[in-house]
Amino acid sequence: MILVTGGAGFIGSNFVLDWLAAGDEAVVNLDALTYAGNLENLASLRGDARHIFVHGDIGDGELIERLLRQYQPRAIVNFAAESHVDRSIHGPEDFIQTNIVGTFRLLEAVRAYWGGLGAGEKAAFRFLHVSTDEVYGSLAKDDPAFSENHRYEPNSPYSASKAASDHLARAYHHTYGLPVLTTNCSNNYGPYHFPEKLIPLIIHNALAGKPLPIYGDGQQIRDWLYVADHCAAIRRVLAAGQPGETYNIGGWNEKPNLEVVHTLCAMLDELSPRADGRSYREQIVFVTDRPGHDRRYAIDAGKIERELGWKPAETFESGIRKTVRWYLDHPDWVANVTSGAYREWVGKQYDNFVPSPRLRGEG
Ligand code: NAD
Ligand code: TYD
Repeated sequence: MILVTGGAGFIGSNFVLDWLAAGDEAVVNLDALTYAGNLENLASLRGDARHIFVHGDIGDGELIERLLRQYQPRAIVNFAAESHVDRSIHGPEDFIQTNIVGTFRLLEAVRAYWGGLGAGEKAAFRFLHVSTDEVYGSLAKDDPAFSENHRYEPNSPYSASKAASDHLARAYHHTYGLPVLTTNCSNNYGPYHFPEKLIPLIIHNALAGKPLPIYGDGQQIRDWLYVADHCAAIRRVLAAGQPGETYNIGGWNEKPNLEVVHTLCAMLDELSPRADGRSYREQIVFVTDRPGHDRRYAIDAGKIERELGWKPAETFESGIRKTVRWYLDHPDWVANVTSGAYREWVGKQYDNFVPSPRLRGEG
């Protein structure tokens, strides 16, 4: 079996569902169920003996050691993290605890377990660390996309904490020989995406008749990857990646934020038109920019394609259409995750924003 951490979050739950749809190897799923973790994402696995959920923290070394002894996984996929840049700006502490200290404690427990395996199991074991393109910093408009050799230049507390975790994972390979694989992916989107991130936030706000907040001028570029493509890439890296190597995973879909929001509005105008017949675009509001906002991310996913034969199946248009349809088909999921603590976050993050001059017609 394999051990997945953070498997109740956005990408982790997509991965667990995808893994069990593709085969019968069981998954132990360790998740602390923070605001971002949601067992509803895994509701279709209720009663499925191949999925064992454990409520716990990757920073709890004793728990991890116990789980490793009990279940003897052949691989670990580490998704668990604090993942939202804006939250890291409001309060970096949790990011240091989970992303750095938590990854360290996980690696320590895994090192002890792995050290006790027989030669064959030791060689076959894999620790796959899931990371982000944000560790590479920001690109200028004409810079080449991030390759695996790009220097690390993290700019937010989130990306700095992920960079630290990548360095720890790397060091455990180089120093102790732990068979570590690292993946650095671009912005994911798709089902079960918590509506604090751009795409689900825009869909949710549009349908709720709320403003669609665009930070700054909306010309920041992200490289969008459909989550099912990311899951397939991770399966491929786990199966065929070389220990000690890093693989960048991206969708070859660089888009300015404003274009993404326009695409979402057009799709919603088609699939769920406003009662007054006007476009959702009218809800767009330009707001104060994010401090230290990275201008452009772009992934060169050539290595994983050349060496492991993976490339994304979805175009941006097909992936966005699936995503919008999923949100329209799952209003209960959205209603559940946007109650309680979510409202507090939205108040903290958006209530003090001043619409920028552009909105007032001065820019
Ligand atoms: P998410 O915030 O949706 O989910 C994170 C999950 O980890 C949640 O279920 C949460 O409960 C769990 N968790 C948090 N702290 C934990 C702890 N201490 N112990 C155990 N579980 C804990 O995040 P996501 O978007 O699914 O991202 C998954 C991974 O992929 C993260 O490592 C993130 O850095 C990376 N990543 C995400 C994106 C993206 O676009 N979402 C892009 C690049 C990389
Ligand atoms: P986000 O989904 O938070 O991902 P990341 O910051 O990790 O790339 O944001 C994607 C882009 O959208 C980023 O440039 C910030 C921008 N953004 C907005 O313009 N408005 C919003 O309300 C949010 C959440 C993000």
